[in-house]
Amino acid sequence: MDASHVEDDLVNVLFTEAQIQEKIRELAGRLEADYAGQELLVVGVLRGAVMVMADLARAMSRHVEMDWMAVSSYGSGTKSSGVVRILKDLDTDISGRHVVIVDEIIDSGLTLSWLTSNLTSRGPASVEICTLLRKPEALQMPVDVKYVGWDIPNEFVVGYGLDYRERYRNLRDIGTLAPHVYS
Ligand code: IMP
Ligand code: MG
Repeated sequence: MDASHVEDDLVNVLFTEAQIQEKIRELAGRLEADYAGQELLVVGVLRGAVMVMADLARAMSRHVEMDWMAVSSYGSGTKSSGVVRILKDLDTDISGRHVVIVDEIIDSGLTLSWLTSNLTSRGPASVEICTLLRKPEALQMPVDVKYVGWDIPNEFVVGYGLDYRERYRNLRDIGTLAPHVYS
């Protein structure tokens, strides 16, 4: 679905499908350049990063291996619970591998900061982070994010993998959720 199908639930459309696809191509280009001549394993963080992973991987003109992790750091609402737990671990042994963690958004940075040290402890050749969106709070966390699509205001956004109570993930655009939906 696109923004017109959930018009009343959105305050605005932050990024259209076309803008997102252009940004994904740009990120894919940077990854291709930086990992030229090296094998690359991208690790998607379920479930939000599904769309980014699918588009990012297909935007590359090279082989890329994909694996997935599921962690929980959020309840069903719009606030972080502060707890990170592995729900699904990697199927791949990442020792000696070049790894890029792919996520759709960094909010507090808690999830990715934790995930980065967890993966780093497994002895990979390198670990970097690629996220489509980043909120200002993330800048306060000790997490070094090499690839960022956009920095956005501190508002709750949905679409392109981002959900509110498991809805809006299949929205093709990214929009700011209207407070009346969650209040
Ligand atoms: P962090 O640990 O606070 O950085 O939380 C990151 C995770 O929280 C993301 O991967 C999302 O699943 C979720 N999240 C944070 N902000 C939003 C938002 O604005 N909309 C939807 N999900 C969000
Ligand atoms: Mg996520």
